[in-house]
Amino acid sequence: MKIIVTGGAGFIGSNFVYYLLREHPEDRVVCYDALTYAGDLETLSEAMKDERFSFVRGDISSRVSVDRLFEAEKPDVVVNFAAESHVDRSITSPEIFLRTNVFGTQVLLEACRKYGVTRFHQVSTDEVYGDLPLDRPDLFFTEQTNLNASSPYSASKASADLLVHAYHRTYGVPVTISRCSNNYGPYHFPEKLIPLMILNALHDKKLPVYGDGKNVRDWLYVEDHCAAIDLVVRKGRVGEVYNIGGHNERSNIDVVRTVLKELGKPESLIEYVEDRKGHDRRYAIDPTKIHDELGWEPATRFEDGIRQTVQWYLDHRQWWEHIANGEYKRFYEQLYGEDKEKNKK
Ligand code: NAD
Ligand code: TYD
Repeated sequence: MKIIVTGGAGFIGSNFVYYLLREHPEDRVVCYDALTYAGDLETLSEAMKDERFSFVRGDISSRVSVDRLFEAEKPDVVVNFAAESHVDRSITSPEIFLRTNVFGTQVLLEACRKYGVTRFHQVSTDEVYGDLPLDRPDLFFTEQTNLNASSPYSASKASADLLVHAYHRTYGVPVTISRCSNNYGPYHFPEKLIPLMILNALHDKKLPVYGDGKNVRDWLYVEDHCAAIDLVVRKGRVGEVYNIGGHNERSNIDVVRTVLKELGKPESLIEYVEDRKGHDRRYAIDPTKIHDELGWEPATRFEDGIRQTVQWYLDHRQWWEHIANGEYKRFYEQLYGEDKEKNKK
């Protein structure tokens, strides 16, 4: 099978590339990635040594470039990870989220329709469901929960999901969608909560916690997400949505404290800062469908996953020093910069 992995130079996409190369020796993998600030070829340096792997630089929202890709590669399967993925960036610059996440997905769907594939898989997010109240721990997102996005990021992902459905219903494109909770693990870009806290703590810098720190996320180790996507692509029913999550809800402040503990750093580094606009309170996935239909369940406990992740950042200094380049530094300064008094509570 030949699989195009779009966005494979980013966090989850690169973990998925490595998962495929390891678990499916019969497959060929082509990574198609625009290499935005969030994508890095260094992340794929080990994959580059494998003759079953190739890399093509390109934008999913460029019809010409995507057509060229499909004509040259003739893929069986496309798994779409390519996206603008950071909620805070979507609040300051929403347009690029529409271009990449919505229009880019439509360009890929159109190419799948034109050239024919056995599967187009859309990697979506639990954020399309909006949020749940903190005082109703009995409530979870199921595949039937209404789309109710809060941020420009989640609205763009929800829009893409609707287009994926529409291409199945209207043109018969064989699609699946997975909606996963928050991931953590190796190659996570240091603008997201867990890697940001690890790196700030390592440098004895303040750890900016939004609002009261009580917002809850349902954390899943990235490898478990990759295994779930692989199952959905190979065994999931066409036209279906699968929620992915491991019943691992933690408040942000608990996650931050765990990171500090792992690194032996003091809690005095924690700094409560202004809350994110429209900040979703709680995400929590009901994974019954993927468990019952495909037999998936997470293999990594949070305590082990977080330890491995902290260790990975300690062992891969070169990777994150290289990543924290000019563009990222500018964004960080803009969001949390010391001159921004308004960020302090
Ligand atoms: P990421 O930001 O780390 O990586 C995104 C990748 O897409 C980068 O390599 C980037 O260069 C590439 N890209 C961006 N725009 C592109 C374009 N126009 N054309 C081609 N490539 C482009 O993101 P991630 O955290 O790995 O997320 C991957 C996917 O998983 C996204 O679709 C995201 O919505 C979804 N998701 C993420 C999480 C999470 O916790 N990170 C959870 C659920 C779902
Ligand atoms: P993030 O990693 O951006 O993922 P998402 O917004 O997609 O869930 O943030 C996870 C949670 O951590 C979210 O509730 C926002 C919060 N957060 C902070 O408190 N401080 C930070 O510096 C960041 C980046 C996030």
